Amino acid sequence: MTIQETIYLSDYTPFGFIVEDVHLTFKLAPTTTRVISRIRFAPNPDSSSRDFFLHGEGLNLHWAKVDGADVAPDLVKGGLRCDVPDTAFTWECEVEIDPQGNTALEGLYMSNGMYCTQCEAEGFRNITFYPDRPDVMSVFTVRIEGDNPALLSNGNPADSGEGWAEWHDPWPKPAYLFALVAGDLRNYPGSFKTMSGRDVELNLWVRPGDEGKCAFGMEALKKSMIWDEEVYGREYDLDIFNIVAVDDFNMGAMENKGLNIFNSAVVLASPETSTDANFERIEAIIAHEYFHNWTGNRITCRDWFQLCLKEGLTVFRDQQFTGDMRGHAVKRINDVVTLRSRQFREDSGPLAHPPRPDQFVEINNFYTVTVYEKGAEVINILKHLVGDDGYKKALDLYFDRHDGDAATIEDWLQVFEDATGRDLTQFKRWYTDAGTPHVKVADSFDNGIYTLTFTQETAPTPGQDDKPARVIPIAVGLLDPNGNEVLPTQILEMAETTQSFSFEGLSAKPVPSILRGFSAPVVLERETSAEEQAFLLAHDTDPFNKWEAGQALAKDCLIAMTQGGTPDQGLLDGMTTVARDHSLDPAFRALALGLPAQDDIAATLAARGITPDPDKIWRAHQALKQAIAQHLQDVWPRLLAEMATPGPYSPDAEHAGKRALHGVALAYLSQIDGGTAAKAAYTTAGNMTEQLSALACLLSVEKGTDELATFREQWQHDRLVMDKWFGLQVGYASPENCVATAKRLSEDADFNWKNPNRFRAVFGAMMMHHAGFHQADGSGYNLLADWLIKLDPVNGQISARMSTGYETWKRYDADRQAKARAALKRINGAPDLSRNLGEMVTRILK
Ligand code: ARG
Ligand code: ZN
Repeated sequence: MTIQETIYLSDYTPFGFIVEDVHLTFKLAPTTTRVISRIRFAPNPDSSSRDFFLHGEGLNLHWAKVDGADVAPDLVKGGLRCDVPDTAFTWECEVEIDPQGNTALEGLYMSNGMYCTQCEAEGFRNITFYPDRPDVMSVFTVRIEGDNPALLSNGNPADSGEGWAEWHDPWPKPAYLFALVAGDLRNYPGSFKTMSGRDVELNLWVRPGDEGKCAFGMEALKKSMIWDEEVYGREYDLDIFNIVAVDDFNMGAMENKGLNIFNSAVVLASPETSTDANFERIEAIIAHEYFHNWTGNRITCRDWFQLCLKEGLTVFRDQQFTGDMRGHAVKRINDVVTLRSRQFREDSGPLAHPPRPDQFVEINNFYTVTVYEKGAEVINILKHLVGDDGYKKALDLYFDRHDGDAATIEDWLQVFEDATGRDLTQFKRWYTDAGTPHVKVADSFDNGIYTLTFTQETAPTPGQDDKPARVIPIAVGLLDPNGNEVLPTQILEMAETTQSFSFEGLSAKPVPSILRGFSAPVVLERETSAEEQAFLLAHDTDPFNKWEAGQALAKDCLIAMTQGGTPDQGLLDGMTTVARDHSLDPAFRALALGLPAQDDIAATLAARGITPDPDKIWRAHQALKQAIAQHLQDVWPRLLAEMATPGPYSPDAEHAGKRALHGVALAYLSQIDGGTAAKAAYTTAGNMTEQLSALACLLSVEKGTDELATFREQWQHDRLVMDKWFGLQVGYASPENCVATAKRLSEDADFNWKNPNRFRAVFGAMMMHHAGFHQADGSGYNLLADWLIKLDPVNGQISARMSTGYETWKRYDADRQAKARAALKRINGAPDLSRNLGEMVTRILK
C-alpha cells in the first residue's frame, strides 16, 4: 500500500512568484512531442517565499535555462526546484513527452490519431514544468508545429503557415484552462454578434463523417451566448470560440478558454443516433462550459478546495438556462431526482464531504455530485434567502469586484453580504458541513391557528461528528380541505434546531404543502396518511410537490410491499387521474408515472435502521409496475395514440415530452402484453428515442434478441450508438443475469475497455443495477473489482470514479458486507494502485 499524502485547505500559501507571460512551442510527434517553454517570472510582492518549485510529472527534461544560461535544476518528486535570481527572470526549458503512450487521458494525449489535452485539475504538469495551481494566472502564446490540418489552442489566432500555427490568449488564465488540439478535423462553422456588436467566429470541430451531427450543438451554443447576455449581462470576450469533439475523454467536457473540449457523447447529436435525453443533456453541457467563461475563467478559483465556487455556480446557471429553454417544473423534478439518487447517496455514506472540502489526497476524486449539484443547491438556498433582487445585485457585484481574480467561497459570501446587508455566518455551514439534514415536521390546529413545527438533524459524517443547525428556507403553501390554496407559497426561514411557524385565521385545518419546489436539499420526514398524499397529488398547485406527493405515496407503497403489503389503491387511482389529465404537461405526466429508484428505497430503509434486501426491493418494484400496468390498462393504448409525434423529428421540449409519455405508456403496456406493442414500435421507430425505448421495453420482458442483433448490424459503425447497445443490455437485465451480461459484453470484440465511454456503458450500468450489482453471491462486487484492478494502471481517474459502486456497501446484510469488503480489500492490495483509486478505496473501507 502506498502512503497517501493529504493536502489541507488550512495550509494554503500563495506562490512566491508571479508569471508575467508564457510562451510555449509544441513540436508534435506521437511518441516524442517536444515542448519548449519560455516563461517570465517575477517575485510575488504578496509572498515572502522564494521557493522556485515547478510541478512536473512524467516529463523528460532535455535542458533548462535561466536568463539564457544553462542550469541544472533539482528533479524532485512531483517537479523540480532551481536557484533563481531575486528579481524578474526568464525560465526556459525543453521537455519530451509521449502523447501516444498517455492512456490516463490527462495532459496531452492522442485519441483516434488526434492530439488533445485535458488539464483540469492538475494535468498541465504532464505537459511541461509549471506552477500548476489555479491562483497562478498568466497570458499565453502558443506555437504548434505539426502536419495536421487543424492546429488549435486558446485565445485568438495570431499567425499561421504551412505546418504551424500560433495562438495568443490575451486573458490571464491558470494552466488548467490551457488546451491544444491537432488533427484531421472538419469544422462546422457559425457566427455570433455580441451585445456590443462584436462578431465572433464559432466552430465545432469534429472527425470527418461527423459533420452531420453538429447543427444542434451550434444552435445550443448561440442560445447560451444570448442567454448569458440577457440574464447575467455577460458578453463573450474573444474573436473566436472553438468546440472540439473527442471520443476518448474522462468526463463530460472542459471549459478551456476559447477552446472547449467535449466528450463526443455530449456534443454530437442527430435524431437517428441521439435520444431526447441526449439532446437535452448536450444543450445543458454546451451551456455549462460556455457559462464557465465568466464563472470559472474570468473569475477562477484560488485553490482546488474552492472548486464549487465555479462548479456549483455554473451548474446553477445551466439549470436556470435549461429551465428557461424547456420549462422549469420538469427541469426541477429531474434535477431533484439526480440529487437524491446520487448526492444524497454520497452524503450518507463513507464518501460524504462538504461542497467545500478542507482536505484531499487526489483532487480528481472531488469532482463529485456534492461539489457540483449540491454546490448548485446551496446557491438556490442563498437565492431564497436574499431574494431575486438581492441575488442579481450580488452577482453584478461579484463580476465587478472579482473579474480577473482567483477567488474563494469567502469572497463569494462577502459579495452577498455587501450587496444585501445580510449576515451569512450561519448560511456558510452549507459550504463547510457535509451531510443531508433530515427535517421532521409536526403540525397542530387550534382555534383557527395552524402551527407547523420543524426539527432538523444531520447525522455525523466522516471527520464531522457535530452538526450545528443550518438555516433552511422552507417554502410552504396551505390548501383548504376542498383543495383551494388558502396560503400561497411563503418562505419560512428555519434557523434553529426546532422551530415553529403559525398561520392564523383559518376556518378549517389546512393541508400543508411543504418544501415546495424543493427549496432546500433536505430529507423531509412527516408522518402523513396515504389519503393526504393522494389529496396533494390531486390538488397541489406547486408542480414539484404534486409530483413529490405521488412519489412519496409510491415509496411508502414499495416499502410496504417489501414487507408483504399490496399496492395502494389511492396510488393506483391517483396515477390514473394524472395519466388522463390533459391539462398536465406530458413530460410532467411521464415523471409522475415513474417509480422511485430501487437504490432510493434501499437508502430510505437503511436510514430507518432496516437492512434492505435488494431482491425484495426488486420484486416489489416489479409487482408495483405490474399492478399499475393492469390498473391503467385502458389508458395505455390511448396515450400511445395521443402522444404520437408524426412528422419530422424535433428535439424541443414539447415533442420530447410527448415521446417521454409515449415511452412510459409503452413500458407499462409491455408488462402486460408480453412485448407485442414494443415489437411493433421498434419496427416503425423513426428516431433513436423511439428505437431505444422500444428496445428497452423488449429487454425488460426478456424479449428482443432479434432486435439486439439487427440494432448492432444497423449501428456497428457508430461508437456512440453502440455504447447504448452495450449499456442497455446490462441495465435491463434481470438481477440474476445482470453480472453475467456485463461479463459476456466485456468479452465482446467491440468492448474497447480503454475508452471511458465504453467502459462506463457496461460497468456503469452494472453498478447502477441495484439488485444486479448487489447479488447475494457477491458476483457483482467481484467482477467490478477485477475490472477496476485491470483498468487502474491505464486510467486511474475512471477506476476511482467507478469505485463509487461500492459506496453503499455498509447498508446491506453481513454476508453481502463481507463479500464487498473482500472485493475492496483485494483492490486495495493491488500492486501500484493509483493515488486516485487508493484514496477512494481507503475512504470507502473506513
Ligand atoms: N470543469 C469541467 C466541467 O465542469 C470538468 C473537469 C473535470 N475534471 C476532472 N479532473 N474530473 O465542465
Ligand atoms: Zn463545470
